[in-house]
Amino acid sequence: MKSELIEKLKSKKAVIGIVGLGYVGLPLALRYCEVGYKVIGFDIDDNKVEALKRGESYIEHIPAAAIGKAVADRFDPTSDFSRARDVDALILCVPTPLNRYREPDLSFVIGTTESLVPHLHESMVISLESTTYPGTTDEELKPRIEGHGLTVGKDIFLVFSPEREDPGNPNFSTKTIPKVCGGHTPDCLDVGLALYGSVIDKVVPVSSTRAAELTKLLENIHRSVNIGLVNEMKMVADRMGIDIHEVIRAAATKPFGFVPYYPGPGIGGHCIPIDPFYLTWKARECGMHTRFIELAGEINSSMHDYVVAKVAEGLNSQRKPVNGSRILVLGIAYKKNVDDMRESPSVFLMEKLRDLGADIAYSDPHIPVFPRMRQHSFALSSMPLSAETLETFDCVLLATDHDKFDYDLIKAHATLLVDCRGRFRDNDPHIVKA
Ligand SMILES: NC(=O)c1ccc[n+]([C@@H]2O[C@H](COP(=O)([O-])OP(=O)(O)OC[C@H]3O[C@@H](n4cnc5c(N)ncnc54)[C@H](O)[C@@H]3O)[C@@H](O)[C@H]2O)c1
Repeated sequence: MKSELIEKLKSKKAVIGIVGLGYVGLPLALRYCEVGYKVIGFDIDDNKVEALKRGESYIEHIPAAAIGKAVADRFDPTSDFSRARDVDALILCVPTPLNRYREPDLSFVIGTTESLVPHLHESMVISLESTTYPGTTDEELKPRIEGHGLTVGKDIFLVFSPEREDPGNPNFSTKTIPKVCGGHTPDCLDVGLALYGSVIDKVVPVSSTRAAELTKLLENIHRSVNIGLVNEMKMVADRMGIDIHEVIRAAATKPFGFVPYYPGPGIGGHCIPIDPFYLTWKARECGMHTRFIELAGEINSSMHDYVVAKVAEGLNSQRKPVNGSRILVLGIAYKKNVDDMRESPSVFLMEKLRDLGADIAYSDPHIPVFPRMRQHSFALSSMPLSAETLETFDCVLLATDHDKFDYDLIKAHATLLVDCRGRFRDNDPHIVKA
């Protein structure tokens, strides 16, 4: 059974099912199509399924033309989960957020598994890609699959293979980013390697699904902790009258042993603010307290208040209160050159300043209208930047430094410029480094 499935995968005769057609699942589905696999894409969101069928994209960096071509060739988006009976592989790319108590919310992973289970059959492989704590694949997926009468490692194969993506980075694609894969058994791993071997240049095997799960968390915790460190260094350097960005640039000339991380207004996106707390939660089960994770989280989330204090100081130096001031926030995506607003620090800054009585506007070339968000609401559209508009604001706050902004124009026409990204290097009296 194993060798037949591997042969089917290697010869690209296998049908691949991708579940969750978001930032992770959609590019992966397109990549499988590109190399010649037939792909069925599953999502519970009918609007997404219909948009894909019409060849439309809902993710800025994925061109509609690529979707149109895939749909015309061999990509079949659907919300009918019974079609899982027609696939040889299921790759789960559904969200793994935190709940309101900041604990792992596996409801999407469990919900999708339970919808798929009645349609599972022998000789297929299931891969979980959603970021999660060590043990999820073994403890949550395996018993549900085996409850359907299939033995994992014999009738059906189970792996965990974490997604690695850097949206907006033109230097890496799904194909060229090495991919880690761990199997529930050695046979599961062999099938997993065949599943990814034709679409990813380098697949890195590890000994278990738990090792693969923890690998992804280590990568993101490493970022969170180092960003926390550099945010703390920023505050110390500021008190000492030193520009942290100059220091980072200088330190980065060391050819070994130093990796530059950059301070900012707080961390955003679906990964770095959330994933580390999956480990914090699971570590408690073995009596461990993840102190680095908590400390980094504390420092990183204190950045919102730090930036607001810098805005208040800047306005104060011009004899203005925050209350009643017109503040223009530049960049509301969580990082530069993308249209993704999940957990964006800009939104927290906008809310805090609004609560203090400021009159808030924003400009973001990637987000024309402030979208509907679960926890945030602003009835605003992106303001086009011109000398005249910039001059009407008491403060311009650079939160996300998109390449599309005209920085010379901003510098020349902002009355007060608060820079969270180290974009402006001069010691100009109207520029406040935050
Ligand atoms: N975005 C990234 O850069 C990135 C990088 C690495 C890992 N991840 C991880 O990948 C996973 C997916 O993230 P994403 O950014 O693609 O999320 P996303 O929100 O962009 O996409 C998830 C998709 O799953 C769909 N969905 C929700 N519940 C479903 C269900 N029960 N069945 C089928 N579809 C369902 C949603 O409609 C949505 O289209 C998360 O665990 C995330 O942590 C994301």
